[in-house]
Amino acid sequence: MIKTTAEVRQAFLDFFATKQHQIVKSSSLVPGNDATLLFTNAGMVPFKDVFLGAETRSYTRATSAQRCVRGGKHNDLENVGYTARHHTFFEMLGNFSFGDYFKENAISYAWEFLTSVLGLPKEKLLVTIYESDEEAFLYWKDEIGIPVEKIIRIGDKSADKKFESDNFWSMGDTGPCGPCSEIFYDHGEHIWGGPPGSPEEDGDRFIEIWNIVFMQFNRQANGDMEPLPNPSIDTGMGLERISAIMQNVHSNYEIDLFQALIKDTANLLDCNDLNNKSLRVISDHIRSCCFLIVDGVVPSNEGRGYVLRRIIRRAIRHGHKLEAKDNFFHKLVKSLIEQMGDAYPELVQQQAIIEKLLRIEEEQFGRTLDRGMVLLEEILNNLEGDTICGDDVFKLYDTYGFPEI
Ligand code: GLY
Repeated sequence: MIKTTAEVRQAFLDFFATKQHQIVKSSSLVPGNDATLLFTNAGMVPFKDVFLGAETRSYTRATSAQRCVRGGKHNDLENVGYTARHHTFFEMLGNFSFGDYFKENAISYAWEFLTSVLGLPKEKLLVTIYESDEEAFLYWKDEIGIPVEKIIRIGDKSADKKFESDNFWSMGDTGPCGPCSEIFYDHGEHIWGGPPGSPEEDGDRFIEIWNIVFMQFNRQANGDMEPLPNPSIDTGMGLERISAIMQNVHSNYEIDLFQALIKDTANLLDCNDLNNKSLRVISDHIRSCCFLIVDGVVPSNEGRGYVLRRIIRRAIRHGHKLEAKDNFFHKLVKSLIEQMGDAYPELVQQQAIIEKLLRIEEEQFGRTLDRGMVLLEEILNNLEGDTICGDDVFKLYDTYGFPEI
């Protein structure tokens, strides 16, 4: 029986190994081959040059559980902890074909893994395809046997935005891309939401679990779609989402791995309410912070280091909301290692340095906040009227780490 997050990860890699895929270790969160990307944000990133034909490997089929960070955008960060599926850090399970198999095998492998290995009920699954992709449509219908009403066509967002579609995947403004087919899981009538493409699609009932990208183009900076040397396959399935399904829970934060982190955080901070959102924020953030440091990022005022600093500070602020009496964040490194150290031995190897960097950042942030309080007092004493000017508010936020409202 496959249930825990660790079991799902291993089952995925083992399954694709039986299909002659090379198991490739997760690459760094800092993309080595790509100046256009802040962080590795999908499983295909380490293979970008292989898709483009600029690099060859000793294998044409690969599978990985890739660590990913999608934490660059301000608004995304503020959502994390408050929704069922937003994270700064997650793991992406993927299988890749570099000019080897294409649509048919990719679709049948995904179906076999979900229904035979994981044993998901077929009637709970539905799929989307890019509007004009007849080949994928026929394969889902005739070979897999999905009823036509459960194969949903998704087109471009508008007539003048060619290839801007939920079913056309690109790694960024330039680079490998192509039409895709997504598999959705129906969490059941008791949860609000409609199927993809419907007005209620943003609800939580139908959740995308697997994206199969038919990589065919290299998007140029001017928007031209240059065909790739070989049509290829890139897939992505969020480990936390699929684990939630296997564990019969709805929110990613309810899976075994997060529940363990949440309990440890609650113990450390003496918090009795395990549903408190701040516990979720902190347990999400300890993952991205530890892995970013493992990959050589250090807190700073620009670029990747600035993103790391913002995530650390947000975690600390949520600790303060829970009335943390002391520096606490670095003490959670141990808990994370208990959960993920087997899959990522680099966490264990670097435990001491991660703890040290986080502790120093906590201490420094504490001093910065204290200085900010002095400035705030000064501002308030000199205030004419009842509004603090925008420049001062920005200074308190940007330089002294005061929280957004
Ligand atoms: N590269 C496919 C995905 O991230 O969904």
